[in-house]
Amino acid sequence: MNTMENQKEPTAAQKARAQELHTVLEHHIWRYHVLDSPEITDAQYDALFHELKALEEAFPGLRSATSPTQRVGGAVLGELPSMRHTLPMYSLDNLFAPADWNEFVARLQRLMPAVHPAAMDFWLEPKMDGLAMELVYEQGQLVRALTRGDGETGEVVTENIRTIRNVPLRLRGENIPEILEVRGEVIIARQDFSRLNQRQEEEGKKTFANPRNAAAGSVRQLDSRITASRPLRFIAYGVGQVEWQETLEGNVADPWDTQEATMQALGTAGFSLAEGATVCHGAEAVVPWLQALEAQRHSMPYDIDGGVVKLNRLDWQEELGFTARAPRFAVAWKFAAEQAQTTLLDIQVQLGRTGVLTPVAVLEPVEVGGVTVDRATLHNEDQIAAKDVRVGDTVIVQRAGDVIPEVVAPVLEKRPQGAVPYRFPSHCPECGTAVRQVAGEVAWRCPNAGCPAVLREGVKYFASKGGLDISGLGARWVELFIANGLVRTAADLFRLDMKALLSLERMGEKSASNMLEALEAARVKATLPRLLCALGIRHVGEQTAKALARQFGSLDALQNATLGALCAVPDVGPEVAGAVQDYFSQPANKALLEDFRSLDLWPVMAAKKPRPVAAVRPQAGQNAGQAISTTQQGSLFGLLGAQGTQQIPTEQEDASEAAPLEGKTFLFTGSLPTLKRSEAEAMVEEAGGEVLGSVSKKLDFLVVGEAPGSKLAKAEKLGIAVLSEEALLALLRG
Ligand code: IVH
Repeated sequence: MNTMENQKEPTAAQKARAQELHTVLEHHIWRYHVLDSPEITDAQYDALFHELKALEEAFPGLRSATSPTQRVGGAVLGELPSMRHTLPMYSLDNLFAPADWNEFVARLQRLMPAVHPAAMDFWLEPKMDGLAMELVYEQGQLVRALTRGDGETGEVVTENIRTIRNVPLRLRGENIPEILEVRGEVIIARQDFSRLNQRQEEEGKKTFANPRNAAAGSVRQLDSRITASRPLRFIAYGVGQVEWQETLEGNVADPWDTQEATMQALGTAGFSLAEGATVCHGAEAVVPWLQALEAQRHSMPYDIDGGVVKLNRLDWQEELGFTARAPRFAVAWKFAAEQAQTTLLDIQVQLGRTGVLTPVAVLEPVEVGGVTVDRATLHNEDQIAAKDVRVGDTVIVQRAGDVIPEVVAPVLEKRPQGAVPYRFPSHCPECGTAVRQVAGEVAWRCPNAGCPAVLREGVKYFASKGGLDISGLGARWVELFIANGLVRTAADLFRLDMKALLSLERMGEKSASNMLEALEAARVKATLPRLLCALGIRHVGEQTAKALARQFGSLDALQNATLGALCAVPDVGPEVAGAVQDYFSQPANKALLEDFRSLDLWPVMAAKKPRPVAAVRPQAGQNAGQAISTTQQGSLFGLLGAQGTQQIPTEQEDASEAAPLEGKTFLFTGSLPTLKRSEAEAMVEEAGGEVLGSVSKKLDFLVVGEAPGSKLAKAEKLGIAVLSEEALLALLRG
């Protein structure tokens, strides 16, 4: 290094090496950031980069504006200067429905009567939700970057754009225009966005509401080092001015005659293009493509808010030209917005079945993603504080796919005067008990197990799909039962009778009898894992419930299990074990379970390991054998409900005889004639069998229903026994 510093001029070899490193690094940046297909390791890249950096430091004359070392940022500006675009950056007219597309096509036809819509080719592309940008290349070198601004004049952000790794500082390839203005969108990919927000949070900085805001904020920084630290990407979608060098004969070599050819050329020149862009033949095929794009929007690596349709032929584009605002040859298909702004009217606190207090935003109704939203989650106290959301604020509301709507952030510029920070309640809004925060958790809970809200939510959950899945018994009915004093706990559901149901205004005889049938069916079909799930014990979901049920075999054994015994169950750690013990220690829960027992809702199943005798506590006046036989009555009835042939084990039979499928493995394919897949699986498990995830040599039986999948062929190949539902039921009967 010293020898280099002492030299004033680089040797020819050093000059050549610097040029070589420039080209090699450029190639690897392109492989990594544009093609997403690196050829060398990060360490190898770093070594080359540092070699070039050292050469440039020793001989500043070797440093060029397009050098890969010039992407780290450094320039700090007082303001962003403005500059006019050579050609205006237009907006696009929007389509919202297929009828709008038909109108657009009709206009094309009016303007070009000689061309039939079936003969028109269109370039279709996702509409990226970022910040519009124009990059100007002269003799293949990036000389300027302008934001769209008002379409006529933009802000000069060259130094910032230089730091974006997938922006070529020099264009690749041979056939390059003298002047090329490339237009596109600066975006942040979804994955990068979550990492960025995580980092912001760790560093105690404000998080961004969405990738678009983060991208826009990052591009418009005065300090380009900040821009350099943000995971920006540039996706090209078109060109502005393009000037070709005149040949000796005075011709211009303009080989781009379609949008497709232009985009291919931009790809060759080193730009990233939109994923999934394509040519479509004829106007008819456009809407189906756009609809398919909308259906897949969530699998895109970055946010898109629509699709863009452009006539493919550039001569036709030119012929049609522009209105004052937008091109006549292109149009945007807008997806239903997934974010919207609205007023936060109130923050209410809702109680869940575990007593957790969840703050809910009450909103001025607004359409988001095609549905009207008037409530959205605010998650917890910390989130409200971090976002500093206040009642009266205009807030950004988001809905993505099936996700529950959430409040993303307040719009600070629109904050009304006098809006005060939100104070989380110190007492349960339903029962007034002082709320408690479990150590290490953000959530506040109402510790009162008898809190009416906790009871109500518990009953709702008990009846829901995650619980006993009682058909027709939704949250609204539960609320009505409770409000009318018919039900206080989940056990009360099974005490409902015709008279009680008919006392409700909205209940007719038919619905009442259906409801009673559904309740009875749920009671007799209830398996131990399902009932365990339905109890809503914290941390006990489907898998844990199955594991606990298999290990202990009954609620009696589970109630008496020691922490050690609980922790011995696969996937059960101290936290889950503690939650289980906590549940069974609460007097209200004990009473509920005794109620279930008296209602004969007490399923058992064969325990995996022989249970210690002391762990089974027979009811007063009964011995353990009797306790098992009564309960099996219920569960066996469930198994054979369809056939109606009840077999009640004698008192002498022990639990292992209730495990006719012990050691056998099962898999299901196709839909079964009478049982739901989940019911059949639960029955197999209750009878000691194991349900596998795929066909393998380990599989003993494949149970086949209607329209079986590829599993059947695979199983037949391996010579695995195939069963019908009927045969399975016979097997279960032993
Ligand atoms: S073409 C003359 N294509 O959408 C054609 N625009 O309202 C002008 N955008 O601000 C635009 N993805 O930044 C085009 N694939 C795409 C696009 C796209 C996003 C943005 C663009 C402009 C706005 C148009």
